Amino acid sequence: MLNVKGVKDTRQVQSIALQSRLKIPLLFGLDVIHGYKTVFPIPLAEAASWDMELLEQSAHIAAKEAAAAGIHWTFAPMVDIARDPRWGRIMEGAGEDTYLGSLAARARVKGFQGTLGSTDAVLACAKHFAGYGAATAGRDYYAVDMSNQMLWETYLPPFKAAVDAGVATFMNSFNTLNGIPATGNVYLQRDILKGKWGFKGFTVSDWGSIGEMVTHGYAENDTIAALRAITAGSDMDMESRAYLKTLGTLVKQKKVSMALVDDAVKRILYLKYKLGLFDDPYKFSDEKREKQVLNDTSHKLIARFCAERSIVLLKNERNTLPIQSTVKTIALIGPLIDARADLDGSWAVQPVDTAAIVTFVQGLKNRYGNHVKFLTAKGCDVTGASMAGFDEAVNIAKQADLVLMAIGESGSMSGEAKSRSDIHVPGVQEQLFAKVKATGKPVVAVIMAGRPLILDSIADKADAILYAWWLGSESGNAIASVLSGNYNPAGKLPVSIPRNVGQLPFTYAQLNTGRPVMEDQNTTYKSAYIDVANSPQYAFGYGLSYTTFAYSDLKLSRSFMSATDTLKVSFTLTNTGDYAGEEIAQLYIRDRVASVARPIKELKGFIKKKLERGESETLTFAITKESLSFYNSQLNWVVEPGEFDIMIGSASDKILLRDKIFVK
Ligand code: GLC
Repeated sequence: MLNVKGVKDTRQVQSIALQSRLKIPLLFGLDVIHGYKTVFPIPLAEAASWDMELLEQSAHIAAKEAAAAGIHWTFAPMVDIARDPRWGRIMEGAGEDTYLGSLAARARVKGFQGTLGSTDAVLACAKHFAGYGAATAGRDYYAVDMSNQMLWETYLPPFKAAVDAGVATFMNSFNTLNGIPATGNVYLQRDILKGKWGFKGFTVSDWGSIGEMVTHGYAENDTIAALRAITAGSDMDMESRAYLKTLGTLVKQKKVSMALVDDAVKRILYLKYKLGLFDDPYKFSDEKREKQVLNDTSHKLIARFCAERSIVLLKNERNTLPIQSTVKTIALIGPLIDARADLDGSWAVQPVDTAAIVTFVQGLKNRYGNHVKFLTAKGCDVTGASMAGFDEAVNIAKQADLVLMAIGESGSMSGEAKSRSDIHVPGVQEQLFAKVKATGKPVVAVIMAGRPLILDSIADKADAILYAWWLGSESGNAIASVLSGNYNPAGKLPVSIPRNVGQLPFTYAQLNTGRPVMEDQNTTYKSAYIDVANSPQYAFGYGLSYTTFAYSDLKLSRSFMSATDTLKVSFTLTNTGDYAGEEIAQLYIRDRVASVARPIKELKGFIKKKLERGESETLTFAITKESLSFYNSQLNWVVEPGEFDIMIGSASDKILLRDKIFVK
């Protein structure tokens, strides 16, 4: 069952199940995506930390709270690669990059599942299999069309990482993949997942996706839909009831073999057994543990730790931040200054303790007490055209030494079925920003959203910009900690922020084309727009710190390597600024010539390192066959001989060290 939660209710429902003929215990499933009672930052925000231990710890706390509340199974992690922020579910994953997304998938599976069978772990569920994030035009549930080479190279690896991490279950996706609904897709579920990858867990359909195959026009009725789904390898029908209504008849008619049903049932029973539910069906329904775990205040501290590290500093001119001690009056302006439930973002469906959420204003007051005078004005709503509040906002800005603006989407503008065709900051917030900026005061824009937003004039004119996503229960405290410099921000974008929606879908890992834009060429005939640059507003992997870092002394352990060698790439990182801080140094490669055109750069490693002021350290990446491999047109995972660029930088568009290697 899903959406039954809490020890009392799960115990009661389980007791009913145990009156059945075979007394097979129920599994209780729930969307515990980024926290149960303690809400962590949305997964896309946490991905900005590039800290896999943090992702694992966050998922572990979520599992601990959910398991204490009688939940056995979470429908997470969502591991869909997404390169189109019009798609509202981009908030649920780890962004645009396959390498980062695969590490995140592994970390989250480990965090949720821990040691399966213990009462602080739940079954995880890799979803949505597969290609869901590539919905045409970013419109949720819409068709997905891509080559098998793209599918294998970009969208499947995070799912394979989940399998390798021992994920217990999979959920298939709503979309068609090249015309075949994923739920009835033999290639995906039978050939790849259960065949090539040898997956031994079970797959569940997504909501009514079995029945939706009729709506797709892929099955005449529920009976045919059930036949196609069970044949393709969908073991459990979440909500369409097609199996309930028709599978028995299909078996009697010998249209579905009992062996298929036995295989599906065995996969499900095995996991119930592995959780220990046959020994003790009430194992997860312990009132005392529920009370103790759900009131463990240490979880909030961990949530705040995660939230601080999810924030990305995009701009900081004239050292506007951290807030200087000379600042005595601060104007807090924008429709999100008092936002509360919004701060949890989408998929915070649990008994969320909304009253416990720390708002933007509250976080700043917690941090500064009476040392700073705060003036507040919303100025406008998140959406709508009313500018009636502008004057009040401008008026308090004029009285302040510094303006902090909390602007962006509402929490319900991203998530499932929340695609936007225009991803600007909504309503009249940009106009409010312009009016406030026109006062001449320094303005910090704190952007809150579940997706990258088009920032336009805000990017041009703000003195500083923090991307604060949706940070969960401890939002206000984490934002105040970064603004005040208590925590020196280190987040880097897990997804590009485009200049306009016309650039979408967008990724840094682009092919070169036959007519790339060349700085030194002024030709008309190049792969470019006539009205906007090809570059994003802010690049994948970009994020600033209050300090600065220098990269030097790139050294390769060898210039020639065979496919079996390991190449060591070392360089020196130095903190050249005024604060201790963490840097996420990134390694990119480029295969210059191959049997399939290769991207101009691909992330193949990163190191997050804290350095004190003036401190230097030599850091080393290892490049192996895995780093240089790709799927050729026959879908073989190969390394081809030739020249590779090795690039190290602080962002995908900030390459600071480069060299070449030759693979024999
Ligand atoms: C939804 C979502 C899926 C979720 C499921 C159960 O439609 O697509 O991610 O786990 O239904 O709520």
